[in-house]
Amino acid sequence: MLAVESLRVTFRRDRAPPVEVLRGVSLTLERGATLGIVGESGSGKSVLALSVIGLLPRNARAEGRVLLDGTDLLTLSERGMRDVRGRRIGMIFQEPMTALNPAMRVGVQIAEGLRVRRGLSRGNARTEALRLLDRVQIPQAGRRIDSYPHEMSGGERQRVGIAIALALEPDLLIADEPTTALDVTVQAGILDILGDLVADLGLSLILISHDLGVIARLADRTLVMHRGAEIEQDATERVLRRPGHDYTRTLIDAMPRRARATLEAGRA
Ligand SMILES: Nc1ncnc2c1ncn2[C@@H]1O[C@H](COP(=O)(O)OP(=O)(O)O)[C@@H](O)[C@H]1O
Ligand SMILES: [Mg+2]
Repeated sequence: MLAVESLRVTFRRDRAPPVEVLRGVSLTLERGATLGIVGESGSGKSVLALSVIGLLPRNARAEGRVLLDGTDLLTLSERGMRDVRGRRIGMIFQEPMTALNPAMRVGVQIAEGLRVRRGLSRGNARTEALRLLDRVQIPQAGRRIDSYPHEMSGGERQRVGIAIALALEPDLLIADEPTTALDVTVQAGILDILGDLVADLGLSLILISHDLGVIARLADRTLVMHRGAEIEQDATERVLRRPGHDYTRTLIDAMPRRARATLEAGRA
């Protein structure tokens, strides 16, 4: 459903030559599949995600193609892209607080998109918001729907972020470091929810992390990136068991011990 072809992104800078941060990246993602994108901080993962949802900063120039069911998103107008965002592609960010309005009850924030963009009445939007909070496993959703973001834990706020991303029923989710700001114990719950969504709703997922342990839990295929370029891209299992590159091996060595133990038990 998604094919990125030879994507190059360059940033213009003041009093300095332009800097190329994506140097010809290609990938494909099938419907219902999960692609992991892994690489150290600064390797271009977020710039890749922002290119796909059309949210690159103004000083960026993108070349190549980003095909969503055959339509090149790089050629769409801002108005055309607004239709794609939310409806076709849902985005989950690293820091859920940045996606949420601290001054609004979470239920109202989820309902807002439903009213404005799906045309639901206030009552129907609230019912749907409640269903979404259940879907992301917020306990006692009927009570928590009227909470403010600061009354929730980091993990709950990220669940709300996922509910907002799901509200317009997209068929592709992009989760950029969705668990990086969270405690290890909370991370697993968020990853389980993402895995359930892919399995139950048939969504496609791009899961971005600097941590190969996170990627290994969910991704069918993995793209390893370094300095804006692909290092390798293959079935996750193959990448983990027979890394084709020293750089991938350093990422495997950096995996949390628990994830590595699981991997090694599988290999034995
Ligand atoms: N708005 C920007 N202007 C200039 N350079 C940027 C901008 N955003 C990101 N970059 C640069 O692009 C590179 C890739 O960044 P990013 O995609 O955020 O990395 P990652 O998400 O893998 O940590 C980095 O070198 C970063 O400094
Ligand atoms: Mg990033």
